[in-house]
Amino acid sequence: MARHGQPSRAFDAASVRAEFPILSDPGLHYLDNAAIAQIPTVVLDAMGLFDRELRANVHGGVYRLACGALAAYESARAAVARFIHAQSPAEVVFTYGTTSAINLLAHSFGALLQEGDEVLISQLEHHSNLLPWRQLAERRGVVLRTLPMTQDGRLDLDRLEETLRPRCRLVALTHCSNVTGALTDVDRVVAAARAVGAKVMLDGAQRLPHGAIDVQALGIDFYVFSGHKCYGPTGIGVLWGKAELLATMPPFMTGGQMIRRVTAEAVDYADPPRRLEAGTPPIGPAIGLGAALEWMARLDWDGAQRHERRLTQRVLARLAELPGVRVVGPLDLCERIGVVSFDIAGIDPTEVCRALDRRHGVALRAGYHCAQPLVAAFGLTGVARASLAPYSTDADVDALLEGLDALASERCRLVTSSGAAPAS
Ligand code: ALA
Repeated sequence: MARHGQPSRAFDAASVRAEFPILSDPGLHYLDNAAIAQIPTVVLDAMGLFDRELRANVHGGVYRLACGALAAYESARAAVARFIHAQSPAEVVFTYGTTSAINLLAHSFGALLQEGDEVLISQLEHHSNLLPWRQLAERRGVVLRTLPMTQDGRLDLDRLEETLRPRCRLVALTHCSNVTGALTDVDRVVAAARAVGAKVMLDGAQRLPHGAIDVQALGIDFYVFSGHKCYGPTGIGVLWGKAELLATMPPFMTGGQMIRRVTAEAVDYADPPRRLEAGTPPIGPAIGLGAALEWMARLDWDGAQRHERRLTQRVLARLAELPGVRVVGPLDLCERIGVVSFDIAGIDPTEVCRALDRRHGVALRAGYHCAQPLVAAFGLTGVARASLAPYSTDADVDALLEGLDALASERCRLVTSSGAAPAS
């Protein structure tokens, strides 16, 4: 739980759920939280506040409305800093999401790298933490190395020492996979990176929605995440970086609001974070994100994580019993979160999701989940994925398991009537 606040009450999934208007529909079993989480009323209200009462640009205005908008925007930055335990709000750069945060880093930190320097990513990465580095490699002759995964979809940290070379300047890894749900052993990564003098960035898009973190205690250098997976709006994300590193980074985008002085001949850029936030920022979404993280800070995450683990265990246990079903990810609950991807032999994952939606009201996602190399490494082109949040309930899991039981029985009937031996 966050140092800055104690949960206001013990965890209770039903009362958490009651805060989310969209979830009042008893026919909706929303299990696509890894793609986008739902928004509680308190955050919806904060999102509306900017446009209703504070709408002004955040830089340069001296009238009351503009001062109010700037104060709300900067107080959202402070809320982010508190939630991740940044040393100061100035270490928090608002972006448009995780993707734009990593692109910013790849351009801006990437501009400091030399030909032959190395960046280490892994086989588990979302395309957002693969393609910006691949482009950097093409642009600047940086060498991109890839840490393999284990057979059950975790980072293969036993291969870390051999993959991390002396020229490695940045280790950029997922904090938690959006496909396998595997959590990263950050201590081990940081120790190995430090041994070769590399910086560490974690992609927290999937981890942060499951509770506060302490970037200082983790010992990392950069952290990125999105608002829309953290019970906040779309179009907002964060790059956190240590102040001394942000200070060395040239701007990624240039334009308004990010300079101290421009003359016909020269430019003197502002200090971070403004140097890295060119143009009018997403003001309303930033205020919404601040409110979302304040909402998260009030939640009892020990209780919420226990609840999510119990539901995840129910899903994993049933999937293990169903013939022809294969889980793509670790089975040990200590090594994962409640993002559960699976394949049902002989049924297209999109059909699995369509049937679960139409017949059982269960919202899952199918496909390669923006992680094609990862899914391909399992010999698949797509998987169905159920992903949980603190407001998920036993009723959601019951509906999912009922639907999966029905699909598995149909599959058995089809396989048996076609005379083929069912794959188990
Ligand atoms: N990248 C998001 C996901 O994993 C959309 O679903």
